[in-house]
Amino acid sequence: AASMLLDTYGRVATDLRVSLTDRCNLRCTYCMPEEGLQWLAKPDLLTDDEIVRLVRIAVTELGIEEVRFTGGEPLLRPGLVGIVERCAALEPRPQMSLTTNGIGLERTATALREAGLDRVNVSLDTLRPDVFQRMTRRKRHGDVLRGLEAARSTGLTPVKVNAVLMPGLNADEAPDLLAWAVEEGYELRFIEQMPLDAQHGWHREGMVTAGDILESLRTRFTLTAEGEEERGSAPAERWVVDGGPHTVGVIASVTRPFCHACDRTRLTADGQVRTCLFASEESDLRGALRAGAADEEIARLWKLAMWGKKAGAGIDDPSFVQPSRPMSAIGG
Ligand code: GTP
Ligand code: 5AD
Ligand code: SF4
Repeated sequence: AASMLLDTYGRVATDLRVSLTDRCNLRCTYCMPEEGLQWLAKPDLLTDDEIVRLVRIAVTELGIEEVRFTGGEPLLRPGLVGIVERCAALEPRPQMSLTTNGIGLERTATALREAGLDRVNVSLDTLRPDVFQRMTRRKRHGDVLRGLEAARSTGLTPVKVNAVLMPGLNADEAPDLLAWAVEEGYELRFIEQMPLDAQHGWHREGMVTAGDILESLRTRFTLTAEGEEERGSAPAERWVVDGGPHTVGVIASVTRPFCHACDRTRLTADGQVRTCLFASEESDLRGALRAGAADEEIARLWKLAMWGKKAGAGIDDPSFVQPSRPMSAIGG
């Protein structure tokens, strides 16, 4: 690449997360209210061409090596397969993955694989259909399980499963989820609930911590920590389960943040660069694109944005304020 996305703390962003839509077909209680949110208007969304152009600039000019498509729910984006296919044709070809709730994956997994997608991460918080319905406000548990199976059988592997534990709902399910994931061959990661919900209902006392999760898992499994080297810039800390080969991860963004090693840059569905999930500012690339900016100008704006990246999320700072965009509009 001609240059890199560097920040003032010496971190280099090589991983781009692209949100393809802010809409979702679930209503997870830790994410959004029953009635949904005020969705972005169609003209404000980047078009498929604009997305592919920005990914091309990121890959060819800015050193991005991995591209993850997120949402809301990215399978709701009609042009997803085409976007993946066009990004797979870029030189150098980026690694491509998708973070999805799994609904509809049953039908699209093979087309995505053929278009060049490498792997998927699927969100699933519970093995119990009734708890799923209480947590997501939708009866789609079976769809998610079938989506997972389709991803595995078509080779979108390793298939990772993301689970958020909520007190009074699924907080007691960690060992059952792990036993299931080991049996099925999915790589399970538990995610600490973050203050990114639209309702601003997060509070620290009400969250299940990495410490709680590990304690609960250790009632049934022997966990051995993986080394720092293997972790690299991954948000998940991993443990080998019962001597291997399976692992379990914990993404402890609140109690054990990994911001010092962060290698991410984000693009929202309406074309704003975010340097961090918790950033308070964004940089408008859509405006520049639509004003006719050349690739070099877009690249310059993107680099400038990353230069302003803060040291970390700062959830524990007394001055912490939750970002105005909720998780579903940032892309996780
Ligand atoms: P892998 O490359 O498969 O490890 O992807 P990932 O874990 O980075 O991606 P995924 O979309 O599955 O994210 C899992 C969880 O990690 C989500 O809850 C994200 O919000 C959270 N996460 C992703 N990126 C960041 C980040 O930069 N900072 C923090 N604090 N959390 C993140
Ligand atoms: N805190 C932590 N994880 C969250 N997710 C959505 N909202 C939150 C939150 N407030 C998870 C989803 C999905 C991943 C992309 O982020 O469950 O697994
Ligand atoms: Fe990177 Fe921000 Fe996430 Fe920390 S919270 S890892 S700085 S995106």
